[in-house]
Amino acid sequence: MTKVGIILGSTRPGRNGEAVAKWVYDIASRRTDAEFELVDLLEYNLPHLDEAVPPSLGQYANEHTKQWSAKIAEFDAYIFVTPEYNHSTSGALKNAIDYLYAEWNNKAAGFVSYGSAGGTRAVEHLRLIMGELQVADVRAQVALSLLTDFENYSVFKPAPFHEATLTTVLDQTIAWGKALATVRKG
Ligand SMILES: Cc1cc2nc3c(=O)[nH]c(=O)nc-3n(C[C@H](O)[C@H](O)[C@H](O)COP(=O)(O)O)c2cc1C
Repeated sequence: MTKVGIILGSTRPGRNGEAVAKWVYDIASRRTDAEFELVDLLEYNLPHLDEAVPPSLGQYANEHTKQWSAKIAEFDAYIFVTPEYNHSTSGALKNAIDYLYAEWNNKAAGFVSYGSAGGTRAVEHLRLIMGELQVADVRAQVALSLLTDFENYSVFKPAPFHEATLTTVLDQTIAWGKALATVRKG
């Protein structure tokens, strides 16, 4: 069965990302064509990258890196739930991505973002990063507005149409995740 990790990319107290990631997980979990797991960066407590050897060589010294590596290696595909901070993704998510290399290669990814402009600028940066990691990122994306999908910028109330878009993101991500498993087998 295809395994999809839903990565919650914000860590700050009071983060909106938690409600968004739970919404993604709840909708995804109704499907029977893949298995889903919520991966909360907070639980991995990663410091700023502290490995001496470049991640592309896969020689990890630290226990936190080994745990993060083992978790990310489990999945065929990812849904990144990202805020927009200063027209990019969060530093915490970028740092967590940077820790690993081979674990991401030849897998698929979709994006769910939020911000005043739907978090779209964060996703554009993530798409560049995915290229370097050999991750196939799908076209569809969910872009949630801080102004209309949250009350008082903090209570998540997504417009109903986002669910259909999320379904398309999941359809595309699962399809590519399945296809790329054959590439990984060689
Ligand atoms: C450091 C910082 C920078 C931000 N920069 C932007 C930005 O450039 N564009 C934007 O639309 N929202 C920006 N925001 C607003 C965030 O998108 C909004 O606070 C969102 O809820 C953050 O996600 P989080 O609550 O999960 O941490 C910024 C917020 C923070 C904390």
